[in-house]
Amino acid sequence: MALIAQLTDPHLRDDGADPFHDPAEAMLQAFAQIAAMDIKPDAIVLTGDIIDRSAKGYAHALPVLHRAPVPLWPMPGNHDDPAGFRIAFDGWAEFAPDHLSYIAQIDDLQLIALDSTLPDGRPGLDRMPLDWLADALGKSRKPILLALHHPPFATGAPHLDRPGFQNAEALSRLIEGSAVCRIIAGHSHRAMQTLWAGCLCSAAPAIGHGLSLSLSGTEPHKPVRVAPAFDLHAIGPKGCVSHQIRLDEGSE
Ligand SMILES: [Fe+2]
Repeated sequence: MALIAQLTDPHLRDDGADPFHDPAEAMLQAFAQIAAMDIKPDAIVLTGDIIDRSAKGYAHALPVLHRAPVPLWPMPGNHDDPAGFRIAFDGWAEFAPDHLSYIAQIDDLQLIALDSTLPDGRPGLDRMPLDWLADALGKSRKPILLALHHPPFATGAPHLDRPGFQNAEALSRLIEGSAVCRIIAGHSHRAMQTLWAGCLCSAAPAIGHGLSLSLSGTEPHKPVRVAPAFDLHAIGPKGCVSHQIRLDEGSE
């Protein structure tokens, strides 16, 4: 069994203007909870928006991430700067040449970290990452955990769904019948789960600020104060179980 802690959307800032709580402190608290678990996770997958768009580079973020108690796999989100990300995390993963996707082996599980931010910043995949993924899926002989920043499914919340996810259908067709056993995402700053492409697909709660939910789309989509939390995914031959751990509930 592989045990994966998924942290997402810390939006680490370098100006101290966090809307509610200090996300760097929340990251360190999550690391402490992970280190104290009776079975320590095999890895942390950080599903994007590592820095906030307001930040100037990764100099403030890297010292925080270096304190992870288990191997940490960093992924980019729409707030991250692709060129700066590639430089900052050089050596952390083997990034594809044209996008920031990569493959990692975590025991009997294969992590496919798929860069879901288009060159223009919108959610989705263009031809290159789709072809790269098709090749990766064709070569895999292990169960696959597919991680993206953007949830590829329609959430029912107009503020989240309005940009769409380019080529979601093509992604779904690639996944159906493949070795992908679980899909995880971030971006929404809210926890959500659904069945998509024949697979359990979820968005994790944020380490940074929460975002409000308006299913009608008439209420403003704005940062809200929620307890930071992360997901813990147990993935083994008998299936996948995911737990959600709030930072205010102590170590699990
Ligand atoms: Fe975010």
